[in-house]
Amino acid sequence: MYTNIIKAKKIDQGISSLYLVKSIDQIDSDIFSSDERTFIENEFKTNKKTTFSFNRFTHWDYIEIVKSKENHFHFLESLRVLADSYAGIFNGAKLSSAGIHSEFLSADESLAFAEGLALGNYQFNKYKTTEKEKFNTLQSILLKNELLKNAQIDELNNLTEATLTARTLVNEPVNYLNAPQLAKEIEMMAKDAGAKVEVFGKSKIEALKMGGLLAVNKGSIDPPTFTIVQWKPENAVNQKPIIFVGKGVVYDTGGLNIKTGDFMNNMKSDMGGAAAVAGSLFAIAKAKLPLYVIGLVPATDNRLNNNAYVTGDVIKMFNGMTVEVLNTDAEGRMILADALAYAQKYEPELVIDLATLTGAAARAIGKYGIVAMGSKNEDFLSDLKMSGEQTGERLVEFPFWEEYEEQLKSDIADMTNLGGAEGGAITAGKFLEKFTKYPYIHLDIAGPALVEKRFNYRGVGGTGVGVRLLFDFAKKQIAKH
Ligand code: BES
Ligand code: MN
Ligand code: ZN
Repeated sequence: MYTNIIKAKKIDQGISSLYLVKSIDQIDSDIFSSDERTFIENEFKTNKKTTFSFNRFTHWDYIEIVKSKENHFHFLESLRVLADSYAGIFNGAKLSSAGIHSEFLSADESLAFAEGLALGNYQFNKYKTTEKEKFNTLQSILLKNELLKNAQIDELNNLTEATLTARTLVNEPVNYLNAPQLAKEIEMMAKDAGAKVEVFGKSKIEALKMGGLLAVNKGSIDPPTFTIVQWKPENAVNQKPIIFVGKGVVYDTGGLNIKTGDFMNNMKSDMGGAAAVAGSLFAIAKAKLPLYVIGLVPATDNRLNNNAYVTGDVIKMFNGMTVEVLNTDAEGRMILADALAYAQKYEPELVIDLATLTGAAARAIGKYGIVAMGSKNEDFLSDLKMSGEQTGERLVEFPFWEEYEEQLKSDIADMTNLGGAEGGAITAGKFLEKFTKYPYIHLDIAGPALVEKRFNYRGVGGTGVGVRLLFDFAKKQIAKH
């Protein structure tokens, strides 16, 4: 279903192939005639052209003269973006497979290119009954580079599958993907990957007194779910788990503080954090990383009916603290707070939550990065930032000063669920922090979780942001223990 990346020792000449070179003299003289090479050289030198295609009638040969970048991470990202443009070229030529000669690249450069190609080749076609001729034809990539190990290719295939599955979850509308269905999908992913999974239904959530999740769910006819994915291999290097928590609001109408104008558009993506958590656990378990990791996903839609929670309601949360609801559209923090408090029972080494939490975060930096805040987390945030650079899922750290907390004071409860006009992403983070007693990082992915127009290999619609970030982070944590 997803693009299959295959390690190739040799790519037959009859297969359409791209030759990635870093300089003109690396162009293969067995494949490209001296006239062709002279042409390429002239076009490159005089017109700065770097992309060439040659119609061999039975197949195509492509040349790309790759431009290095001083910053290695930026170079990897440019390779992913470049590869995405080749997804367009290959599909335009109706190819079902393409060879990639990447012998002149390092292993990680080759992998970045293949990654960009596989991710860029994704389409969400489930609901298309017409225009099938526009579906992508590319199914497999033959990747040639002696430096590549089979394990690296397997890992990349798993990681792209995880990312694209997360995208699909985001792209699914709520009339298919309600909270019970989200739980089912996560369960299937976890089982496929060999991880343990448990789903709490409404009665269990009631018994646990998860007041935040239940309050948001009051306006819904679908029950809430709380999904726990556990990857605890025998050879885990850590005793205390690293926990990822994902916001699973399968649709956010705002509730009684209903979203007006077009602000409700795309609110099916409000479970982007849940998708990232499900995807990263899938990839971690598939790769059998020797790391104890848990994923927690509280899920519900945020709707309004005659029983919906209202402003002024005081909610007793899972940990016993009380919250005065001042805005029903600040629902993400209500459900996440319960999950964060629940995480305590595992005595985690670190908890990271991912959430499409605030429009403020999206307005501040847009789709270009993730807004991050953290406390008590020693080196973890800098490790995570490094993974952000490595994967192109970059982090920007916002202040997390205690002064922001003043905005959450309530006259009648322990806190309100609404900050003031300033620093909306931060006050949301500060609200969540109140429910944590462990090293903690909050990631607001409201900007990058879904893009309305095609954005290079991230595609259009759900991007699956967070999956590759968390996987890279998990991988690097192994060596730190
Ligand atoms: N899900 C939204 C945040 C959001 C906005 C995500 C735009 C993606 C794109 C969240 O639940 C929300 O409604 N936040 C409010 C908070 C406010 C009421 C304090 C917001 O950002 O306006
Ligand atoms: Mn909301
Ligand atoms: Zn929301």
